[in-house]
Amino acid sequence: MSTGEATSFGNISASKLAEIYGTPLLVIDGAVLTAAINEFVSASASTEVEVTYAGKALLLVGIAQLLKESRLRLEVCSLGELTTAQRAGFPPSRIDLHGSGKTDAELRAAADGAVSRTIVDGIAELRALASYASPSSPVAILMRINSGIEARTHAFVRTAGDQTKFGITPRDFSTAARIIQDNAALNFRGLHSHIGSQISDAKAFIRNAARLVDAAARLKRLGLFTSDLVVGGGFAVRSRPSERAPLDVKRTIASIAQEVRKRSKARGIVLPTVGIEPGRALIAPAGTLLYRVMARKRQGRRTFVIVDGGMADNPRPALYGAHPDAKLAGRRSNVRLEMVTICGRSCENDFITDVRLARDVTVGDILAMPMTGAYTYSMASNYNRFPRPAVVYAHGGNHQLMARRETIDDVLRGDVGFLSV
Ligand code: LLP
Repeated sequence: MSTGEATSFGNISASKLAEIYGTPLLVIDGAVLTAAINEFVSASASTEVEVTYAGKALLLVGIAQLLKESRLRLEVCSLGELTTAQRAGFPPSRIDLHGSGKTDAELRAAADGAVSRTIVDGIAELRALASYASPSSPVAILMRINSGIEARTHAFVRTAGDQTKFGITPRDFSTAARIIQDNAALNFRGLHSHIGSQISDAKAFIRNAARLVDAAARLKRLGLFTSDLVVGGGFAVRSRPSERAPLDVKRTIASIAQEVRKRSKARGIVLPTVGIEPGRALIAPAGTLLYRVMARKRQGRRTFVIVDGGMADNPRPALYGAHPDAKLAGRRSNVRLEMVTICGRSCENDFITDVRLARDVTVGDILAMPMTGAYTYSMASNYNRFPRPAVVYAHGGNHQLMARRETIDDVLRGDVGFLSV
């Protein structure tokens, strides 16, 4: 019957944050983020697996500042993410550069030492990078391979197999090896393979690790020595706090490390340093989106609750059919629950989720969607010319703005009209 306690972050209530910063609002709970970082760091300590945060899940200067103080490395995939890391003073020695279509400016930055490793995604890119780099300070590269492991996940977030654009296929290994060996400006460090996102099957990670070791053995025969081997990210998280964790992080990391150890021995290669690259698993649990109810209506058999955000700030339901949880956050209610459809306010029938909410939820109430720290703000757009929401960090009884809410002027910043009219 009851919707329980009003939501809070540490001892700061959702309604207080909504009142101060407005809605929609992404709240990052510092204690939850720290716990997630610690979980990965401690799970990988005994196997000496290196953990890299994939910035695409959510990267702000403040996030990079926090990560700088941890032991994590940082993966960036654009000049925007790289500049964010630089503004935070994140050490280049812990940054990796990704991207399946890197621009000249990104390749130049890599060649100029802005990052420690560049993950090369194709043959043409290998040549382009070699042309920017100098033999006097060779650029360290990992070769992203397409391991062919098709993980069971949403097709839109699958990144290996011949239906995907990613990586270098085994067919092209000898060409890649030749280019690398002919270019003193390229320093081959090893291999990378990321197979997708929201993967809950530990075996897929292990199979990917095995393929990487096999590729390392093949490249050894072609004269390339693998010292780093990164199995990518994609560690699945619960979409609702009530669900069980879909993947045992500690066991999965241990199994990956064990597979690499066993297979490296069998294939006669020196044991490489193993790396993983989670994004979602580190930041999703720490994030909660807060919305204010704008309208509530009954149409046909459904009750619609329309909130002041939607697909512009929370695109995962529309893109991947995600169903985040939602609850009344600003107050307690003891009335009966009813099934409602929460919608955003975009022109589409912008469904966010179906949940059970108290029957007395009304205009002005605050709703919270937990576990929404990943791929929400980072994928937010100005669709309908909505300003992007604010992001606030709540920790130890304090709260601090990480990204201010955009203004209408921000939204119109690049709109120059017809300059010559
Ligand atoms: N490394 C590479 C090279 C990646 O491409 C990705 C994600 C990751 C690491 C981190 O994956 P994670 O641990 O966060 O699953 N927008 C989609 C997710 C796309 C992920 C793309 N690559 C979503 O909201 O589900």
